[in-house]
Amino acid sequence: MVKGGHRLLFLVGLSLWLCLVSPATSELQRLQHPTKPDGDGTLSFLVVGDWGREGSYNQSEVASQMGVIAEKLDIDFVISTGDNFYENGLTGEDDPEFLESFTDIYTAPSLQKPWYNVLGNHDYRGDVEAQLSPALRKKDSRWICFRSSILNAEIVEFFFVDTTPFVDKYFTDPGEHKYDWKGVEPRDEYLSNLLKDVDSALKESSAKWKIVVGHHTIKSAGHHGVTVELVEHLLPILEANHIDLYVNGHDHCLEHITSTDSEIQFITSGGGSKAWRGDIRSWKPEEMKFYYDGQGFLSVSMTGDQADLVFYDVFGQVLHEWSISKQLHDAA
Ligand SMILES: *[C@@H]1O[C@H](CO)[C@@H](O)[C@H](O)[C@H]1NC(C)=O
Repeated sequence: MVKGGHRLLFLVGLSLWLCLVSPATSELQRLQHPTKPDGDGTLSFLVVGDWGREGSYNQSEVASQMGVIAEKLDIDFVISTGDNFYENGLTGEDDPEFLESFTDIYTAPSLQKPWYNVLGNHDYRGDVEAQLSPALRKKDSRWICFRSSILNAEIVEFFFVDTTPFVDKYFTDPGEHKYDWKGVEPRDEYLSNLLKDVDSALKESSAKWKIVVGHHTIKSAGHHGVTVELVEHLLPILEANHIDLYVNGHDHCLEHITSTDSEIQFITSGGGSKAWRGDIRSWKPEEMKFYYDGQGFLSVSMTGDQADLVFYDVFGQVLHEWSISKQLHDAA
C-alpha cells in the first residue's frame, strides 16, 4: 500500500517535472527536479554507466548495492552515463532488453526514482529514437532520456551532452558496426549547434554548481583514454564557464582525475557491468586521485556549499571518498 502510494506520488511528480519545460534561448530540452523538501536544499544521487547486460558481469550485484546505498542516502534520482544497452542499444520500443537489463535489474524500492540517461556509442548502434521515445516511459516511468538536456535541480544544474556524434572514428571507420545517425546529420551543423547551446546555457546558468554529464571521457587513463574531439571542442567551453564536474562513462572503471589547468574534476563512473581489469595507462600523478578497474558506482550528496562523493565496489564497500567545498573552491 505504502509503496503503491509512493509510486503514484512519484508518477504525478514526474509528469509535473516533465511538463515544466520552459522555453529558453537554448534549444536544449529543459527539466526540473526539486531538492529534498527538508528545507536545507540538499540533493543526493547515484551515477552508474555502461550497464545493460541482463544482469551479467556483476550488473545485478552492482544494482543491489546501489539499492542499499540509495536507501541510506534517500536519493533523489539516478544518472546514467550511457551505454545503456549492450551490445547494440535497443532494436525498438518493444525490445525486451529494456525490461531485462533495466526494469528487472534495478528493482530496489530506493531506486524507483527518475533515471536521467545519456546515450553512449553502443546505444547509437541500435534504434536511438526508441531510447528517446515516451513509449519507454510507459513501460517504466523512471526512464528519462534525451540526446542533450538541462536539468535544473535548484542548487545544481546538470548539462547532459550527447558526446557520441563528436567522435570521428564512428563516422570514418565504423568497421562492422552500424550507427543510427538519424537526427544527427548534417553532423557539422548538429555539433556546432550543440556546442553553442551548451555554451549559452552554461553562461545563463545561475546555479551554484554546474555539472556536465556525457558518455565519452575527457580525461581518463582507462582503455579508451582521452577523447581528443571532446578535448578540442567541448573542454574549452567547460573551462571558460567554470563548471565543477565533468562526469562520464565509456571507460569501464571508476576514476577521479583533477586538473592542473582548471578547477574542473573529471569523474568516470563506467563500472555498471563488464569491467576491464588491468587496462590502465599512465597519467600525471598530481592529477590522478583514484583509479579502480573493477565494477561499482558513485554517490553524490550535496548542499549549496559542499559535495560529498563516494565510489563503491560490487560489495558496496567504500573505495574512495572526497568532498568539494564551494566556498573554498570559489575563494581559490
Ligand atoms: C564480479 O566482482 C568480483 C569482485 O570484484 C570479481 O572478483 C569478479 O571477477 C567479477 N565478475 C565478473 C564477471 O566481472
